[in-house]
Amino acid sequence: MIDLHHHLLFGMDDGPATQRQMEQMLLRASEDGVTVVVATPHYLPGIFPFPAETYALRIRQANEATAAMGLALQVLGGAEMLYTPQAERHLAERRVPTLAGSTKVLVEFQPSVRLRELMQGMETILRGGYLPVLAHVERYGCLMAGRGEAAARLKRELEVTLQMNADTVVHGGRLGQRAAVRALLERGLVDHIASDAHNTDERGCRMGAAYRAVLGKLGLAEAERMFGTRESMAEFLDR
Ligand SMILES: [Fe+2]
Repeated sequence: MIDLHHHLLFGMDDGPATQRQMEQMLLRASEDGVTVVVATPHYLPGIFPFPAETYALRIRQANEATAAMGLALQVLGGAEMLYTPQAERHLAERRVPTLAGSTKVLVEFQPSVRLRELMQGMETILRGGYLPVLAHVERYGCLMAGRGEAAARLKRELEVTLQMNADTVVHGGRLGQRAAVRALLERGLVDHIASDAHNTDERGCRMGAAYRAVLGKLGLAEAERMFGTRESMAEFLDR
């Protein structure tokens, strides 16, 4: 499996604080069946400076750690960018790490964002030459009303892909959004399932359990599409 949303780099954001904790997260991801993980620390344009040098060092340290631990796990670079008024400029200045150096940018909005604002943000990203991947689609009320109609409209009108957290797949989502979570999965509107792991506890990697749930309910082709085979994800990430 390929996990394209994972806060494994230590000392960067609200993910692990120490190298040891990062190593435990890498071990957990590998045990869960992940072979490629895209490290996506938070990038908050205009709110908090992104430590680019530390980021590059941490990517190197993460790959050295997987090699030292003998794990068949490759760590690629990326970021989870919060959409802010400064996002457009940071993207234009090529400061935001894209997913594995591709044209795809993992982007999150405030959970209370309105559909109109969300779509305007996506249009801005697209105009800048990037392809947005919406992080944890289940977090936005404007997309979770009804049975996935707004998410379907978003995908019809704009070239965006939608990511759902593995934990949401396993537990079915919060009360009040369970029907929408199910509808999104059953209608094929979810493009990627990723862990959004921050630690090895309550926000840990649940990729294995989520894969088994999707395999059981929707079958192998859908599981492979959303969890990514090496080939499909290589194509997606332009590698
Ligand atoms: Fe995240």
